[in-house]
Amino acid sequence: MSFTRRQILAGLAGVSVLGLGAGGARYWLGRPEEARTHDYELIAAPLDVELVPGHRTSVWAYGGQAPGLELRARQGDWLRVRFVNRLPEPSTIHWHGIRLPLEMDGVPYVSQLPVLPGEYFDYRFRLPDAGSFWYHPHTASGEQLGRGLVGPLIVEEREPSGFRHERTLSLKSWHVDGQGVFGEFSVPREAARGGTPGRLTTVNGEAAPTLELPAGQIVRLRILNLDNTLTYRLNLPDAEARIYALDGNPVAPRPLGKEYWLGPGMRIELGLRVPAAGVELPLRNGPLRLATLKSVGGGEAPGAWPAALPANPVPEPDLAAAESLRFNFEWAGALSVNTEQGGAFKFWQINGQAWDINDRSCAERPIATLQQGRSYIFELRNVSQYQHPIHLHGMTFKVLDSNRRKIAPYFTDTYLLGRNETARVALVADNPGVWMFHCHVVDHMETGLMAAIKVA
Ligand code: C2O
Ligand code: CU
Ligand code: CU
Repeated sequence: MSFTRRQILAGLAGVSVLGLGAGGARYWLGRPEEARTHDYELIAAPLDVELVPGHRTSVWAYGGQAPGLELRARQGDWLRVRFVNRLPEPSTIHWHGIRLPLEMDGVPYVSQLPVLPGEYFDYRFRLPDAGSFWYHPHTASGEQLGRGLVGPLIVEEREPSGFRHERTLSLKSWHVDGQGVFGEFSVPREAARGGTPGRLTTVNGEAAPTLELPAGQIVRLRILNLDNTLTYRLNLPDAEARIYALDGNPVAPRPLGKEYWLGPGMRIELGLRVPAAGVELPLRNGPLRLATLKSVGGGEAPGAWPAALPANPVPEPDLAAAESLRFNFEWAGALSVNTEQGGAFKFWQINGQAWDINDRSCAERPIATLQQGRSYIFELRNVSQYQHPIHLHGMTFKVLDSNRRKIAPYFTDTYLLGRNETARVALVADNPGVWMFHCHVVDHMETGLMAAIKVA
């Protein structure tokens, strides 16, 4: 694909005409087209926040907050976002989990040119699916996501869902010390293992916050893992909670059970029955408290469990006619690359190929080429001791089965492939383009665990 820089010719003059609202973001509704359009102006810029009490941390924020401004739109409508880059370096926005045209996918040199400091780019696409999605750059991901460029994108159902109350909980840990100062986002010895973890865990940018929920009601909790590295072992002891959706797609409601492993990039939507006023429930990662859910108020008639959410219009793969492809995820351990010259460590590979984030031509050598309209089964084999949340751009896939756990088939964009696990997923290759296929542990994807899949 070749690019013109037409989209940036208007430069900042165009931006000042729109005007920048307080906090740098603006949301206006109801510009009628054939469907409703949701317009945002989303500015990425440095911002000082207080992550560690009494200390300032210089984060990078979308719309004046980190995690970024929650974008909301309705299924079937258009989302239009003018992304204004006021960062000191080039960036893009990728819309994780959204099925959209390649030009809107935010992958540098594949979808678009990087948006340079002071420039803007207009993203515009229709939202086929309702659910909890998110957005982030696809440039210098370790640092850019690490500094806070991650944000929720909520697509509401076309018809009311039956939930009268909802909350978004964005999980993110930060690579800061006790004074709130950023350290390394990636340490080679960690990248070669589970990834470099942040040390300060937050929910909506706050360490162990107390979130107030309406007593007696069923609340929809949209929990998003926007972390570079961590898999959260989510649990809500003593709570009555049901899973309504996984990674942006509804499932038949079922109890949350003991815990759910939410890998980087993954989302879960729970229905939670909020107990009587005054009761506090811990939301935990394993034994660690992430947040306190506090029941307040009352008076409103108690809510009933909503019915299952309506399915998204994802094409059903034809398993009988599907071609099978195998993808091995493994350790590469190429430590000898000269990183001073701008090369990257390569610790991971897919089918013997390690992606080089500094080589712009990697996407010209897709690991697989799919025929548009055909169904495929991917056999995902993790031959390593670390788990990998495997994510595909552009298309939603159906998880079929695993040799390690019992699976009720469901649609997703990210599958947490456990150590030494083999899982099968299936999809209809209905979206033409070159689509990134990678592990969402940012350290892993930046040290080789990424590939391109072409649909033509
Ligand atoms: Cu969250 Cu390449 O994606
Ligand atoms: Cu994505
Ligand atoms: Cu990985």
